[in-house]
Amino acid sequence: MCGIIGYTGSTPVTPILLEGLKTLEYRGYDSAGIARLQGGAIQTIKKKGRLSCLAEALEKEPDAGATCGIGHTRWATHGEPSDRNSHPHATEALALVHNGIIENYAELAAALSAEGYTFSSETDTEVAAKLIDRLYARCRDPLDAILGAVARIRGSFAFGILFRDRPDVIYAVRRDSPLLVATGRDGSVIASDVPAILSHGRQYVRLDEGVVAVLHKDRVDFFDGEKRPIPQRLETAEWSVEQAQKGGFPHFMIKEIYEEPDALRRTVAPRIQNGLPFFDDPILDTDRLGRFKSIHVVACGTAMHAGLVGKALVEKLARVPVNVEIASEFRYRDPVLDKDDLVILISQSGETADTLAALRHAKAKGVHTLAIVNVIGSSVAREADGVLYTWAGPEIAVASTKAYIVQCAVLCLLAIRLALIKGTVTKESAHALCEVLLHEVPQAIRRVLDDREIIERVAPRLLHAEHLFFIGRGMDYSIAMEASLKLKEISYIHCEAYAAGELKHGTISLVTDGIPVIALVTQKGLCEKTVSGIREVGARGATVIAVCSESLASTHEIPAAHLLTIPDVGEELSVFPATTALQLLSYAVSVGRNVDADKPRNLAKSVTVE
Ligand code: M6R
Repeated sequence: MCGIIGYTGSTPVTPILLEGLKTLEYRGYDSAGIARLQGGAIQTIKKKGRLSCLAEALEKEPDAGATCGIGHTRWATHGEPSDRNSHPHATEALALVHNGIIENYAELAAALSAEGYTFSSETDTEVAAKLIDRLYARCRDPLDAILGAVARIRGSFAFGILFRDRPDVIYAVRRDSPLLVATGRDGSVIASDVPAILSHGRQYVRLDEGVVAVLHKDRVDFFDGEKRPIPQRLETAEWSVEQAQKGGFPHFMIKEIYEEPDALRRTVAPRIQNGLPFFDDPILDTDRLGRFKSIHVVACGTAMHAGLVGKALVEKLARVPVNVEIASEFRYRDPVLDKDDLVILISQSGETADTLAALRHAKAKGVHTLAIVNVIGSSVAREADGVLYTWAGPEIAVASTKAYIVQCAVLCLLAIRLALIKGTVTKESAHALCEVLLHEVPQAIRRVLDDREIIERVAPRLLHAEHLFFIGRGMDYSIAMEASLKLKEISYIHCEAYAAGELKHGTISLVTDGIPVIALVTQKGLCEKTVSGIREVGARGATVIAVCSESLASTHEIPAAHLLTIPDVGEELSVFPATTALQLLSYAVSVGRNVDADKPRNLAKSVTVE
């Protein structure tokens, strides 16, 4: 996600900001910028692309040795990566950097436009800058303006703000997005993450929600919502820069698994209005969506597995046929496509060569295309007719985890929306599903994360396995396919996912004494059938590990050597807690087998060649 740095002190600010942004590079970004106070004015320099592009631009700008400024690396959420959309966003009076998503930005922008404000970017951040500008023009008090603005803003934010007529001072405030404040030997600093403050000292404050920090060269003052001074707790960073970049976790993969509840909320919350799914892309308006007779989901690897979950949901809820296909097959197969079909491309990176080629193939056939993509402005996102962004934030580990979770979440919203249009679900049940997806699912994932130790206790059973099976039926089979891919890519154990009822048609001949079989049991109607499958493999000596919803575990006898229960969120949505549990298990096995989970052999994060 985006990175924030800010400094006021006695040392020239430009190199400090660049250095700070460098330590935040690991968070992923597509553009960067700084604003510095010099000669009684705010100078803003921002560039699309790598930090080297910003550094080059800065070399061309006269630096009078400014000692107060803010900087930002942007990971696009609203609007493409571009110079214009990069932060800081400035007015005559102030400059602002922002992490997070402002949910009511359109509403705020409309009110500001009515007062004569114009906007030069597509970002939610520019709206925040102009809102504070408007309030400041009236009250001339930075604290009042900031508090007034945050009271009007819905969504998440961490802001760093400079005012032209408050030289050497930085203001900071946050909600649902982290922000750290520190006073070092030669000045005061704000940063979105620990690595960026380590060169200034090891002590910092994790700013409380709603508290405004006012940074001076030699001290920081903190104020609550009533402008009363308020103490903040000092923490000490024990980590190296590298440890800090991973948030103290040993690998990005496990850090990203822990980010799943937030990623899910970030992706789902802005797309629920009045309790029901809402999309602002024209391709998804009621008329168009209602006209699609069938859907093709085309993707690779984990993204394709999310498509399988989408198929189960769309077909169950909306009764619209869905065909899921591997992009490298689709592109060369000359698939039967109709002008009333919708082709959905799913991709974390948006740059996967096969997925991009499949998209171009579908477009050449004159079929409507919709991209579900995590990287804003990526090739798939740009070329598709419509796009739904997943807001997982950058995924660094090669093994996709949080991106799959948010892909499934977007498909779930799409399925509910389609079902409402087709009249195959009632408003009440659609409402109930959205409620669970938005609130109960993130909580369920958190509970699974809290139970990590229980899951890890099973890992030693798998460490020496050469072969392993995952089984499940219906949606559980789709979950099993992703779990199997995850485990094989980061443990190097040969895994296969099988539909539980299909084993007996051949593959069961491979089930021998002691072979681990991981069984998914989250679908009520299929539970007894899966239990039969468990008995079949158990009778041939398999060691069965069952991942089972709590309610099914309490009402059925699950004949497994190890039973891992997951919180109940309803069978449509069980993919979320079940997947997190299996990701944790795969990660534990990977660590136990000494594999680098972030960079498994032979694999690249983004497969941009055939
Ligand atoms: O960036 P994409 O989502 O298009 O990538 C697709 C696959 O290459 C990707 O999901 C891959 O399977 C992951 N390494 C799985 O963890």
